[in-house]
Amino acid sequence: MDAIVFLKNDHKTVEKLFKRYEKAGRKAYREKRELVAKVIEELTVHAHIEEEIFYPAARKAAPETDDHVLESVEEHHVVAWILAELKNLDVKDERFDAKVTVLIENVRHHVEEEEQEWFPQVRAAMGRKRLRELGEEMEAAKPRAPRDPLSVPSADA
Ligand SMILES: [Fe+2]
Ligand SMILES: [Fe+2]
Repeated sequence: MDAIVFLKNDHKTVEKLFKRYEKAGRKAYREKRELVAKVIEELTVHAHIEEEIFYPAARKAAPETDDHVLESVEEHHVVAWILAELKNLDVKDERFDAKVTVLIENVRHHVEEEEQEWFPQVRAAMGRKRLRELGEEMEAAKPRAPRDPLSVPSADA
């Protein structure tokens, strides 16, 4: 599969989970906990694959988008920490919904920048064949990517 299509599919999966969270009742604790557990897993794996495979390849193919890559990594950093906090926070805590709201705002902003501004430049620089090779590599990496948000490389710095 094409690498950018692959990443956009992940974005869609996460957006669906966000919408379900937004529709869940305030006291639907079990549902909210399950949705957030899925979001944590999806975003952690996605960030791993982007940081380890896609971002370096994109940077190499389109060096003029350097600033975009660096900003994206900083956004991942913030998201990884919010995910780690949510993992350990009681779903009934008064800060839980607020933290999820901030997570959703951050991720939507990040996804929009990737999809609207940056990916089209990467697609033009890489070409179809390279994007397909990269997509295969990313698909293969998905099952073995770590699930702990703080294991995402950008969480560290
Ligand atoms: Fe990203
Ligand atoms: Fe992404």
